[in-house]
Amino acid sequence: MKTLLIVLGTRPEAIKLAPLAMHFRKFPDEFNVHVCLTGQHREIVHQALQVFGLKPDTDLDLMLPGQTLFQSTSRILSALEAVMRDVRPDLVFVQGDTTTTLCGALAGLYAGVPVAHVEAGLRTWDLSRPFPEEANRQMVGRITTLHLAATSWAAANLEREGVAPSSITVTGNTGIDALLHTARNLPHFDWPFLNPALRTILVTGHRRENFGDGQERFCSALKTLAARGDVQIVYPVHPNPNVRGPVEKALGELPNIHLIHPQDYQPFIDLMRRSYLIITDSGGVQEEGPSLGKPILVSREVTERPEAVEAGTVRLVGTNEAKIVAEATTLLDDPVEYQRRALIHNPYGDGQACPRIEKAVRAYFA
Ligand code: UD1
Ligand code: UDP
Repeated sequence: MKTLLIVLGTRPEAIKLAPLAMHFRKFPDEFNVHVCLTGQHREIVHQALQVFGLKPDTDLDLMLPGQTLFQSTSRILSALEAVMRDVRPDLVFVQGDTTTTLCGALAGLYAGVPVAHVEAGLRTWDLSRPFPEEANRQMVGRITTLHLAATSWAAANLEREGVAPSSITVTGNTGIDALLHTARNLPHFDWPFLNPALRTILVTGHRRENFGDGQERFCSALKTLAARGDVQIVYPVHPNPNVRGPVEKALGELPNIHLIHPQDYQPFIDLMRRSYLIITDSGGVQEEGPSLGKPILVSREVTERPEAVEAGTVRLVGTNEAKIVAEATTLLDDPVEYQRRALIHNPYGDGQACPRIEKAVRAYFA
């Protein structure tokens, strides 16, 4: 029996690690799966776990409103010491590039337990974008034993950094396992505030490097787009006070702009499906959009997910107000260009990442 400790803390980690935990739980005679929720996020992580029916074994419940990176990093790392001592895992799973990811990997290192990194090898090679995520994933890459890369591009990045090819497996992204499974079983959702005569632009945003001026320019672009009169903007606002405050101030109470609470995963997928185009700086949404055939404008200067940019579904627009408006206008007014970019394809995974990870883990223990 091998004990697997799965450490997760934020909404995207919940969505991308819940299918993996549920997968390993199908083999109770071989794997003892312990899910530790750091509580880096609170409400929105529980929202995300709910749909998968995954109950954490430990909930450290560490979130502080308006937490700084110093606070979350030190509190999470410190609390993981007792978890490592009590659970005594054979392998620690972390996912992505959050503070929880970094702390989970460090906890493995300090306790002498090998680390498996899900979604390994994403890179922009710019420590300020995304911040602090690029630094987190580079640091985790140095202390990982099992690198589980979603794509061959990510695997090649690791090889270029000197990681032994034998420790890298290309698995596809577990987020696409989650998406395809959830989208197949989606219930009906009513959206009474949506006007069926208008096309919907779905928006999300939370990157730290966009706070301040970038966010202001982004909101001005949304205001200009809403003023066209033939679109409605639906914006589930991230609970980070650095996002919520400025966004509500800039966009609250405007016609054709609906600021709503963060959505559960199922209704959010329904919103993505209903949308005409998506404007976002989210990593996960960039991966999901292509699988749903939705063109995406990414409000970032660089991305660690170039595959869909190369395919044309995703275009980088930064927080340049004129560029956001111009690119969205092209998609709204040029049906030929829209069709060219509303391409259903799965550059990030085929829904089979969890069984591939299981195979890699079995090979590792063998
Ligand atoms: C974090 C991750 C980011 C990831 C994002 C996903 C880091 C450094 N950042 O950013 O990589 O893309 O999550 O959403 O790890 N809050 C709540 N309720 C919640 C969640 C957050 O109120 O359920 C508020 C709290 O005030 C909290 C703040 O948001 O202090 C910031 O949370 P934090 O996890 O530090 O950063 P995010 O911006 O969410
Ligand atoms: N998501 C959700 N509800 C929302 C917004 C996003 O369930 O209101 C999902 C989305 O489908 C994706 C994930 O959350 O799977 C992305 O999380 P987020 O944008 O917070 O983080 P990132 O992927 O940028 O790290």
